[in-house]
Parts: sequence; structure tokens; C-alpha cells
Amino acid sequence: MALGAVTDMSAMENVARTELPSDKTERYAALRAEIAAVIAGEPNITARYASASSLLAQAFPDRFFWTGFYVVDPDKQNELVVGPYQGTLGCLRIPFGKGVCGACAAQRESIIVADVHAFPGHIACDSRSNSEIVTPVFDHSGALVAVLDVDSTQFDAFDAADQSGLEAICADLLTTP
Ligand code: SME
Repeated sequence: MALGAVTDMSAMENVARTELPSDKTERYAALRAEIAAVIAGEPNITARYASASSLLAQAFPDRFFWTGFYVVDPDKQNELVVGPYQGTLGCLRIPFGKGVCGACAAQRESIIVADVHAFPGHIACDSRSNSEIVTPVFDHSGALVAVLDVDSTQFDAFDAADQSGLEAICADLLTTP
């Protein structure tokens, strides 16, 4: 599917993504290519985050309860502010070091939490979330610019395949033309 600079959405039906591979690693690889194709040629960062969060949420509807970005506030370098997401109402701001997202931002590394209720300082935006994965997003210069947060109502919903799949997608988000 050649989608570059997508304005005609007829190729992107909002239905269950049964055409995606059932194997999780292969599904992430297909999604990575799809997201790259959709955002190709689109310089607006909000458009890139919004497209990625939509495609990710629709690709894993049973596990992804909240899927979206917290971006580093350019006016407050040690604070995240909510960006494009799919899901119920998210907290607006998270200081670096607070909660899972803030810990990821401070450590600049992905974090998988099997039971968020056991994570010290976890920020419960929605009490139905039970596990979480957060992955950093870097720009061309290697600066942290955002984190991708995915929450699940299932406990222990995320594993190494999710981490590598989401990290690969995040690595493309601001570095591909
Ligand atoms: N649970 C996150 C906060 C963000 S929301 O869940 C959408 C955290 O602890 O960082």
C-alpha cells in the first residue's frame, strides 16, 4: 500500500485489522512499514504522533487500552505534557521521574510494568489500567522529545516483542523524511 502524504483515506478503513499478521513480531513489522508510509512527507510532528497512535491502537484493540504520546514540554524541559492519544482521558502533565512515563523520560529507556499497582509512584489516569509499557522517542540529534505510553486492562500484557516493536516504530517517528 503506497500511502505517502495520505489525504485519501479510502485505503485505510476503520475496521478490525484482520489483514495484519497474527504473529506479534510480524504484526509490529507490518505496522512499522504502514506507519512509515502514512507519515512519509508529513513534517508536522502532531500529525505523525496522531497517526501512529491511531494505527497502533487499532492493531491491538484487545490489549491496548490507552495508546499515546507524552511530549517533552519545550517550555519546561523536565516535564511531559500529553500529546496525541487514543483512549480515555489522560493526565495532562507528568514531571520527569514521576510515574512510569516520567521514569522512562528520566532513564531514556523503555519500561515494562506487569502490575502498575505495584509500581512506586504510578500515576493512575484510569483505574482500569493494570499494566503498561513506555518507550522513549528521540529526534535526529538523540534528544528525548517524547515517550510513547501504552496501557492495558490486562495484567502483564507486554513483553520483549512489544518493546522491540514499539522501539522500532518510535525510532522512525521523527527521523524519517
Ligand atoms: N500511568 C502513567 C500515566 C499516564 S496514563 O496512564 C495515560 C504513568 O504512571 O506514567
